[in-house]
Amino acid sequence: MCGIVAYVGEREAAPVIIKGLKRLEYRGYDSAGIALAKNGELNVYKKQGKVADLENFAAGEDLGGNIGIGHTRWATHGEPNDVNAHPHTDSTSSLAMIHNGIIENYDSLKKDLLGKGHIFKSETDSEVFLHFIEDIRNREGCSLVEAVRLALSKVVGAYAIVLMDKDNPGQLIAARKGSPLVIGVGENEFFLASDATPIVEYTNEVVYLNDQEIAVINDGELNIRNIEDIPLTPYIQTLDMELEAIEKGGFEHFMLKEIFEQPKSIADCMRGRLKAETGHLVLGGIREYAHKLDKAERIIIVACGTSWHAGLVAEYIFEDWCRIPVEVEYASEFRYRNPIINEGDIVIAISQSGETADTLAAIELAKSKGAIIFGVCNVVGSSIARLTHEGAYTHAGPEIGVASTKAFTAQLTVLGMMALKLGLRRGTLKESKFHELLVELESIPAKVEKALKSDSLIKKISEKFKDSKNFLYLGRGYNFPVALEGALKLKEISYIHAEGYPAAEMKHGPIALIDEEMPVVFIATQDSSYEKIVSNIQEVKARKGKVIAIVTEGDEIIPQMADYTIEVPATTEELMPLVSVIPLQLLSYHIAVMRDCNVDQPRNLAKSVTVE
Ligand code: F6R
Repeated sequence: MCGIVAYVGEREAAPVIIKGLKRLEYRGYDSAGIALAKNGELNVYKKQGKVADLENFAAGEDLGGNIGIGHTRWATHGEPNDVNAHPHTDSTSSLAMIHNGIIENYDSLKKDLLGKGHIFKSETDSEVFLHFIEDIRNREGCSLVEAVRLALSKVVGAYAIVLMDKDNPGQLIAARKGSPLVIGVGENEFFLASDATPIVEYTNEVVYLNDQEIAVINDGELNIRNIEDIPLTPYIQTLDMELEAIEKGGFEHFMLKEIFEQPKSIADCMRGRLKAETGHLVLGGIREYAHKLDKAERIIIVACGTSWHAGLVAEYIFEDWCRIPVEVEYASEFRYRNPIINEGDIVIAISQSGETADTLAAIELAKSKGAIIFGVCNVVGSSIARLTHEGAYTHAGPEIGVASTKAFTAQLTVLGMMALKLGLRRGTLKESKFHELLVELESIPAKVEKALKSDSLIKKISEKFKDSKNFLYLGRGYNFPVALEGALKLKEISYIHAEGYPAAEMKHGPIALIDEEMPVVFIATQDSSYEKIVSNIQEVKARKGKVIAIVTEGDEIIPQMADYTIEVPATTEELMPLVSVIPLQLLSYHIAVMRDCNVDQPRNLAKSVTVE
């Protein structure tokens, strides 16, 4: 995780870096730091806490200079404190470096460097990494770029780094392997960052650095070479991102903005791809390997967290519409268990950030076993998007709130479109049903809009339950993954213990937890298991549990039993998760706000989990 930003050019570097770090705070927020070079001096300021704490700490200090690097941290090695914050410096305080990633062999490197007299101020692997570069430069008498290159061939792990040297104030050196790095190319200026959000304000010309590549910016010129020292031509792309997309737009939190954006983000996801009127459904990113998907004998979905929940919904959909067996795996388990991948198996990797380390490793493993892999990512140009054979972007726009909301519904939309197309091509989905579903999918943004209208009711319900210690979320069929997702949303942002279960499993254990203190959220929309879930609600009520039920508009049965009901518009059961998840997102949001939690940046979490 961690976010990195660097600048070199004609502007003052500090404001650009500080603003950029604030945009990247979703990637980590336990400490922050900045290094600036001016008149042969290196000024480094580091502080535990948020970027705002760093700003207060450095106020009144010398923040001048046209070159600098900054970092916002999510601790891996060493507790979050001022000393462990980045940038780190070398023995002579001439070099400064920021690092996002993990150096796995740092322990042996450190022992060796300690033996050579190096003194370390922090407990981080990153400081060891920098001293290792310094050591090579001194030993080999080579340039800093060459020392970086040699060091990179020896370190094991993941990194995106940027280095500066106070004695060479026109130069920034950057490299990546496994952690993202984007270079913004302006007029006589360059911006480097973990993603494009700190850059978009200044330029839309960007270069995505690839793994094992080193970028050197020297006196206004960008050169890229690979770790074997072969020069490469930078591939400049034009960013398709608006500044408004990464600002709060009048909402109190990014999460709320992103929840309310869903009618638009789902529509954006379908734009140009689906037109029910003409029966048009095309995913442009799936072409060359579409025939492999058509003939798939099994689909394996790998993902983590909320994306894994989207995968569970997709399992039901693909099996139902395409009659292909589907397995949904936690990427972190899949990568370590010698999975069986046969010819004819297809892997789908789902990831909002496109940078999740476990999902990346799962893809690499599946690739090594000959699988064809499709990616479903939100961040354009991300590592997973580039590592997979083909795929479809979710086009939800930047998701800044750490808790995933609009990315989830966009993932469901893409996976739904994939399954619809596949079902039609395989002949497992009748044309008439295909057309009905296209019409239904096209109507989802309007239904989500309607579901959002329950916001004030949900706020009132949240007031009643904000002090609960536990929550149970129950759903059946397509709404079972929604129950898991609702529970995850609540626990991650409000720190209330919550569990999601298939409703029928309740009597195999969790029913023991039910008493008058226990809120149970039922996702009980009208579908093929409606009668069954009605019985489950009665079982909870018989034990005095408090029931909050998400029901289909017009339901007259459940409101008579439940303590609170929240209506959502009717849709087919396969598409219901797109609608039924909305009240759960709002419920967790309001409860977290009422508990004074940091909704956009919950404790201990980071948006891109780039460590395993
Ligand atoms: C939960 C959440 C996480 C992510 C998970 C995977 O709200 O955001 O559980 O879903 O870390 O991240 P991506 O989708 O970026 O691979």
